[in-house]
Amino acid sequence: MRTTIRDIQKLKERGERIPMVTAYDYTSAQLADRAGVPLLLVGDSLGMVVLGYGSTVPVTLDEMVHHSKAVVRGSQQALVVGDLPFLTYASVDQAIHSAGRMLQEAGVQAVKLEGGVTVAPTVARLVALGIPVMGHIGYTPQSEHQIGRRVQGRQANEAGQLIEDALALEAAGAFAIVLELVPAPLAHAITARLHIPTIGIGAGVACDGQVQVWHDILGLYSDFTPRHTRRYAHLAETIGAALTSYVAEVRAGTFPTAEQSATMDEATLQAALDQVQAQPRD
Ligand code: KIV
Repeated sequence: MRTTIRDIQKLKERGERIPMVTAYDYTSAQLADRAGVPLLLVGDSLGMVVLGYGSTVPVTLDEMVHHSKAVVRGSQQALVVGDLPFLTYASVDQAIHSAGRMLQEAGVQAVKLEGGVTVAPTVARLVALGIPVMGHIGYTPQSEHQIGRRVQGRQANEAGQLIEDALALEAAGAFAIVLELVPAPLAHAITARLHIPTIGIGAGVACDGQVQVWHDILGLYSDFTPRHTRRYAHLAETIGAALTSYVAEVRAGTFPTAEQSATMDEATLQAALDQVQAQPRD
């Protein structure tokens, strides 16, 4: 049975913290699911960590649908949330079309979109149509050209706006809100004012849950660790060493051995060779 929106709400009510991680394909979804992650995010961060774009801005709805399908196929327990990419929810009608594709074609159980007060009417309409929505405020990567990649809400007016944004999203029916790069005390204050869970990334420990990017927590980059993350593995080094060994063994002819090869009856092979030799060649 998949985790439901109600299950996530119950976690908040019981004061149980909610782990969330991004996933972009079948295998990573399977691994996260088996590890007991209740919320998976097919984030548009896939643009950077999987597709090699410089930001989330170029990510298309087709790309999100394609990767989300794989994550849904790879998971059985987790509730899968898919990001609506940049400019795919600029109007209410467009948001309905985009979210509809994510639920109907990709099979995700909820969508996430960036923004507060300004997107609240869109959130309300999606929720009224039966589409669960997760909000995302603070640093919103789709607006990086406008706001810059920095902690949001350090000034009183900015902090006040973020509180208004969170309350507007809750009133619109969002089932949870991501708080990204928000000072920990402000994230605490927002969390205390909401009945729905906050999911932090770079927003301190008082949030109801935490979300992290797959590649960051597993150390899939050898040279970059954002401040808000912690490496729970060093997979770049592990994978690099494994591939170096593979390359060396193929070059040396020590892979494959008999163990990785199939055998064949000698007489059958000889019969095949005799047959081939007997046939005239052009
Ligand atoms: O796209 C993403 O991975 C996200 C998380 C950073 C919250 O939106």
